[in-house]
Amino acid sequence: VALPSTSSRMIDVQTKMAGRALELLNLPEGQPCYLLDIGCGSGLSGDYLSDEGHYWVGIDISPAMLDAALDRDTEGDLLLGDMGQGIPFKPGSFDGCISISAVQWLCNANKKSDIPAKRLYHFFSSLYSVLARGARAVLQLYPENSEQLELITTQATKAGFTGGVVVDYPNSAKAKKFYLCLFSGPSTFLPKGLSENQEEEEATESMFTNKRVPYRLARQGLVRKSREWVLEKKERRRRQGKEVRPDTQYTGRKRKPRF
Ligand SMILES: C[S@@+](CC[C@H](N)C(=O)[O-])C[C@H]1O[C@@H](n2cnc3c(N)ncnc32)[C@H](O)[C@@H]1O
Repeated sequence: VALPSTSSRMIDVQTKMAGRALELLNLPEGQPCYLLDIGCGSGLSGDYLSDEGHYWVGIDISPAMLDAALDRDTEGDLLLGDMGQGIPFKPGSFDGCISISAVQWLCNANKKSDIPAKRLYHFFSSLYSVLARGARAVLQLYPENSEQLELITTQATKAGFTGGVVVDYPNSAKAKKFYLCLFSGPSTFLPKGLSENQEEEEATESMFTNKRVPYRLARQGLVRKSREWVLEKKERRRRQGKEVRPDTQYTGRKRKPRF
């Protein structure tokens, strides 16, 4: 079997992304943890976990990649498997999960019977189960477009995760990286993405939650008949495809009483 070659640049990139994923996992300081590496490949990301004192299990669909990991004497336990068919471990097994450049593959249908949304849901719901309650998963991925990212986050939310997407270096074509940060417990604070210019105001993260906010509750902040209330109501009717008069300076303005 021809082993996949590993250039020093590739090692460097995988290791850096594993480092950032581990940072975003926010594990308790100085405590060895039991982690899962999805799409572990030849174990470069896993080596970083070992160097940081953690124990890990890697799962990958490619026997050639796992052979390369064995050849490199990685410390983690290796499992041949397709994440789209679910993660086969007991509930609550892991303190956290990372994945580097793998999850976007679930958006592709390799056979006619592959339904990406179904495979993603299967993956996320099994991942939710194998994580200890309150544990996180940080998945670095390369979505092809915003629709793919939405498909992925929708299925993660459906499976019970909260969290969001952290974007590092959003303005750099080369360095831009997406990290899907998933929380299996109650929603917590989402870290900020890195940027070359720390002064930049641009948002580098977007939060999602699986909490349902009843429509009326979401509007509670608005005072009835105020300009904001009227504008919001008009906008909603536009979204419903209804004919609505354009907004002007008079919209929502109080009329003087007539005698
Ligand atoms: C860029 S490589 C990851 C390399 C790895 N993190 C490392 O540090 O060596 C992406 C990996 O995802 C794996 N992969 C792709 N689709 C998969 C699937 N459905 N289930 C499990 N692994 C998958 C590939 O076989 C490949 O090894």
